[in-house]
Amino acid sequence: MSGSSSAPPADELAAVSLTDSGAAVSEAEFSQRVLIRSIIRRPDGGAGLAGQKIRVGGWVKKGRKQRAIAFLEVNDGSCEANLQVLVDAELVTTLGEVTVGQIVATGTCVHVEGTLKVPPEGTVQRIELNVEKVLDLGTVNAAKYPLPKTKFTLEFIRDYVHLRPRTNAISAIARLRNALAYATHTFFQKHGFLYVHTPIITTSDCEGAGEMFQVTTLINDAEKLEKELTKIPADLVAAKILAKDKGEIVAQLKSAKASDAEISAAVSELKIAKENLKKLEEKSKLKPGIPQKNGKIDYGQDFFARQAFLTVSGQLQVETYACALSSVYTFGPTFRAEHSHTTRHLAEFWMVEPEIAFADIQDDMNCAEAFVKFLCQWLLDNCRDDMEFMVEKFDKNAIDRLEMVAATGFVRLSYTDAVAILEEASKETNFENKVEWGVDLASEHERYLTEVKYKKPVIVYNYPKGIKAFYMKVNADNKTVAAMDVLVPKVGELIGGSQREERYEVIRDRILEMGLPLEPYEWYLDLRRFGTVKHSGFGLGFERMILFATGIDNIRDVIPFPRYPGRADL
Ligand code: 4AD
Ligand code: MG
Repeated sequence: MSGSSSAPPADELAAVSLTDSGAAVSEAEFSQRVLIRSIIRRPDGGAGLAGQKIRVGGWVKKGRKQRAIAFLEVNDGSCEANLQVLVDAELVTTLGEVTVGQIVATGTCVHVEGTLKVPPEGTVQRIELNVEKVLDLGTVNAAKYPLPKTKFTLEFIRDYVHLRPRTNAISAIARLRNALAYATHTFFQKHGFLYVHTPIITTSDCEGAGEMFQVTTLINDAEKLEKELTKIPADLVAAKILAKDKGEIVAQLKSAKASDAEISAAVSELKIAKENLKKLEEKSKLKPGIPQKNGKIDYGQDFFARQAFLTVSGQLQVETYACALSSVYTFGPTFRAEHSHTTRHLAEFWMVEPEIAFADIQDDMNCAEAFVKFLCQWLLDNCRDDMEFMVEKFDKNAIDRLEMVAATGFVRLSYTDAVAILEEASKETNFENKVEWGVDLASEHERYLTEVKYKKPVIVYNYPKGIKAFYMKVNADNKTVAAMDVLVPKVGELIGGSQREERYEVIRDRILEMGLPLEPYEWYLDLRRFGTVKHSGFGLGFERMILFATGIDNIRDVIPFPRYPGRADL
């Protein structure tokens, strides 16, 4: 006891740290097992843990049987690497019906206990697990397991979104996606931004582009009513007979001079039968289909008593918090009903949207650049293994690109200058879309600027007002708005943002000019009516950021459950 409160002698300290770096093994939180990452990803590849008794759980990537031993490559998703797990046939046969042949099947789940040991010389592994006890097994019918053991394409496994996280590619993407989400919150929290949850269901169209999914219960209500109406004629007949019968009973009781109690009981039954009949008669008058009023759909009868949609952006709502709490951000799912079948578009995607009060377009661009750089540096610092996997399997430039972006200043170019450059370039380059002042830049133009001309991120700003949303600040030239798009190699547009129009009259006119109704935006106009403030913000397409980082070609492979025209699995 006496030595416990004082510092241990120096030689004891050395012993403690030796044991720490040599043989400590940390259990996963909330489950009694060790993460494979914490074994394999040690600097010694796990060798220093030899002799430790541990539990691991995971799914067999590859298995083979050699004499009486099953060699399993087990992966638990904590890192790309597998742990080699050796199971003696005898241990398996004690489990009843299960055979060694079965546990080597790809996809089998094993939860085992055993001792780590250094494998014999000449093996690739630096550590393996000798199983002493099989705790649980989740077997697989190998003939029916849909994921092939051989090479497959990302497109092929898209048909198995529920099983594809078991593949190396999708699990690496999942870890990178998680890291980017964590980095996003870290960046904004570090810079004093407040995280605001904006609504998913909204009644205002942020982009004014009419690409919203509608949220309604009118259709299911109509279907329910239709079903009920088919039953009504029969129910009506029965209800009429019942009411008649009950009436006759009352009449009989009265003429037989029955007791008051008997009569009043029969009367109340008659009343119920009549009420039921009345309800049915009223219902039978209802018309099937969606309710109409003055020749239009009557949204007054819809769930929210008005038309509602899934949000295309949290911007308008997050502005309400920026105009009170100054620096805020929202990060959530957004939805667009555009029929784009491209490798860059999803119907449901996630967006990071900061909004800063007292900030102009320059501040906005500075924030966007700092954020993208931070994300790149974060992956370089925290996700080396998964990034190396991406380099090996998908895009040999992925790490170089992150390093370049983390270290390079972004080019800033006005739209007018960008168009001049593109017009010049179109003399040699065959663009599919014509480029001239006033038209929106096509993906090929954006990629030309960032991939060919500058070979680094480019921020294009001050776009013609005719091609941008109503909320953007009209510049002094009255022709352009203070919009900015961040274009990056591999992806094109990664970020879209702007300084917001804070002048009440100007923004009101812009709404009307664009043919949008004022009513849904009255609350938004209040922000300009009451204590208006210069403010700016942007939206970063989260999946586009993952495409950019990983070099994966199709956006459908960087979101766990992709939604696009014709497809919404699970
Ligand atoms: O440029 P967008 O449409 O900007 C807005 O929605 C603004 N309200 C954002 C703001 O200022 N707060 O979209 C922002 C980004 C795009 O740059 C792109 O990266 C991504 O969202 N994006 C999509 N990503 C995947 N699928 C789609 N269909 C996308 N549409 C936009
Ligand atoms: Mg945009």
